[in-house]
Amino acid sequence: MRRGGRGIALGPSLRVPAIGQGTWHMGERADRRADEVRALRAGIDAGMTLIDTAEMYAEGGAERVVGEAVAGRREEVVLVTKVYPANAGRRRAKAACERSLTRLGTDVIDVYLLHWRGQVPLSETAAVMEELRDEGKIRQWGVSNFDTEAMQRLWRVPAGQACVTDQVLYHLGSRGIEYDLLPWCRDAAPGLPVMAYSPLAQGGRARRAILEEPVLRRIAEQRGVQPAQVALAWTIREGDVIAVPKASDPDHVRQNAAAMDIELTQEELTALDGAFPPPSRHTPLEIL
Ligand SMILES: NC(=O)c1ccc[n+]([C@@H]2O[C@H](COP(=O)([O-])OP(=O)(O)OC[C@H]3O[C@@H](n4cnc5c(N)ncnc54)[C@H](OP(=O)(O)O)[C@@H]3O)[C@@H](O)[C@H]2O)c1
Repeated sequence: MRRGGRGIALGPSLRVPAIGQGTWHMGERADRRADEVRALRAGIDAGMTLIDTAEMYAEGGAERVVGEAVAGRREEVVLVTKVYPANAGRRRAKAACERSLTRLGTDVIDVYLLHWRGQVPLSETAAVMEELRDEGKIRQWGVSNFDTEAMQRLWRVPAGQACVTDQVLYHLGSRGIEYDLLPWCRDAAPGLPVMAYSPLAQGGRARRAILEEPVLRRIAEQRGVQPAQVALAWTIREGDVIAVPKASDPDHVRQNAAAMDIELTQEELTALDGAFPPPSRHTPLEIL
């Protein structure tokens, strides 16, 4: 596995590469399905063996695409999927999990995430996640779109500290989590990696403008790589952030996997700080 050869620990039992594959908007169009399956398989071949999906994406369609992509090679990948907040309570979680298992064509989900915080009490979600783990339906569980305050609350409920990751928006143009959430994960919860979604800024206030930024483009040009690769290398620079870019284009897939081998220099990081300043105060977590 790239990046130090050992990857990043996700809970006590899983190791994942620093760059995985997102699947939002996959499964929406029948005429694109074969290309999406091919892209995910190429990504696995290239070492991006973590795949992120959700019951929400194309209302199960993305999970079906993932199921087809991993058929026959399930043991090579770590599958992450997400449960709707309204399904994350005692009454609905088990049925939602079974539906995801069926669509993914597997008997166990590696990491099951609460997609965002809803009305179900965190203590109930944590308890249900633990039951699903005891029943062998999931290996680990985590959350998504949780700001520092929500993580602190989770840490106070029974079994809350079994959470293995928080998946949040993070890219060069949206660095708010560096002010408080990332330090909290490093200090209060050592070893809790953050999973960065939209690392190429498909969403968020900066949109895709980050890839046009002159400093980023100059660094890419000097290295003979693509701006997106520099953006991904930046996201995973500290060794405890996992990026999950989505790519359907085969060139993008190859580029994203190769970004795992790019180590930015201190000089390059300083130049990027100048173009994309780090946060100097708390900003509310951006959510797509
Ligand atoms: N937890 C949450 O609430 C949440 C929210 C949003 C996203 N996510 C997850 O995070 C994943 C990634 O986020 P995202 O899909 O929003 O956006 P993203 O990964 O930042 O951007 C995806 C876009 O970038 C393009 N792209 C990929 N590789 C590229 C490259 N090397 N050069 C240039 N363009 C490239 C893709 O094009 P092609 O497809 O044409 O290759 C696609 O249009 C999602 O798919 C999903 O799994 C989670």
